[in-house]
Amino acid sequence: MTRKTILHMLTPLRQMSPFDVNMALDAGYDAVVPYTDVGLSDVGNLVQDAIFSRPPDAGVATGIFLAGKDAPTALDMLDAARKAMVPPFEISVFADPAGSFTTAAAMVAKVEKALARHYDRTLADVSVAIFGATGVVGYCTAVIAAKEGARVTIVGHDGLRRVEDIASSIKERFGVTVTPADGSDDAKKGAAIEGANVLLAAAKAGVQVISSAQLRNAPDLLVAADVNAVPPAGIEGLKVNANGEPLEGTRAIGIGPLSIGNVKYKTQSGLFVRMLKAEKPIILDFQDAFSLARDLAK
Ligand SMILES: NC(=O)c1ccc[n+]([C@@H]2O[C@H](COP(=O)([O-])OP(=O)(O)OC[C@H]3O[C@@H](n4cnc5c(N)ncnc54)[C@H](OP(=O)(O)O)[C@@H]3O)[C@@H](O)[C@H]2O)c1
Repeated sequence: MTRKTILHMLTPLRQMSPFDVNMALDAGYDAVVPYTDVGLSDVGNLVQDAIFSRPPDAGVATGIFLAGKDAPTALDMLDAARKAMVPPFEISVFADPAGSFTTAAAMVAKVEKALARHYDRTLADVSVAIFGATGVVGYCTAVIAAKEGARVTIVGHDGLRRVEDIASSIKERFGVTVTPADGSDDAKKGAAIEGANVLLAAAKAGVQVISSAQLRNAPDLLVAADVNAVPPAGIEGLKVNANGEPLEGTRAIGIGPLSIGNVKYKTQSGLFVRMLKAEKPIILDFQDAFSLARDLAK
């Protein structure tokens, strides 16, 4: 008998993302079921409800997807799901809150490729300034880049306090250091990018965070990348489909949101397919997203 593949999609928010629902069905799940307003303490019960309703060999045909808008919460839910398994009753789990794990993975993978191709440099050789760092994509971008050895600065649009807290939580959870910086006015933003080799914009859709004038404060800039596809661009002058072309008014190259989105889409879809094809239940987080994005990025 061919078993139906079922994905239980859990979010702490009021709504499950239609983007993620479409991605899961298009990747091949027979059924996807959203659960909203899910708290951390609900995860264990939901996982055990799912694992005991099917025989152990159906574990690979049953999946949990963790959504939401916060990376630490999604990772805590992932841990709770892992702990709720009762071998041999186990199922696959994939976390990608607000698409952030796959988006951050795609952005860092594209930048890594560009550094290697255009400058013969690695992430470990560069300093990286991240705007939109209090958002879920910015947070995950900072963690992935820092784990690869980059010197990472996270820039707060409303002052130092929140980015200081985020830097401490990243240190505690992942053991890597990122430096907080105040980007609450134009002069402070300019100072924050002064020594940057890589500029990553992960700010709210439709918000320009860096102007052409500010780019002149970053003479060592090699690569600028932006994930915001809604005009105006997060980095002025960076085209949505830029894929390594020169960024006007600088000596750097640009990578735009559609080039990053192409890798993000394939990464998220590829991880769903990996769950569907796995011979044993698997657990996927941003590290798995980054490793697949690296293979996909050109
Ligand atoms: N290309 C792709 O494939 C792809 C995929 C997914 C997402 N995205 C894009 O990735 C970006 C980040 O997503 P997200 O979910 O992390 O977004 P988000 O939650 O909306 O916020 C991102 C960041 O922008 C900051 N921000 C808000 N208003 C700002 C302003 N006026 N000036 C400067 N910064 C401001 C937020 O600060 P607060 O913490 O104060 O709100 C936060 O740090 C969005 O542009 C989204 O559209 C792209």
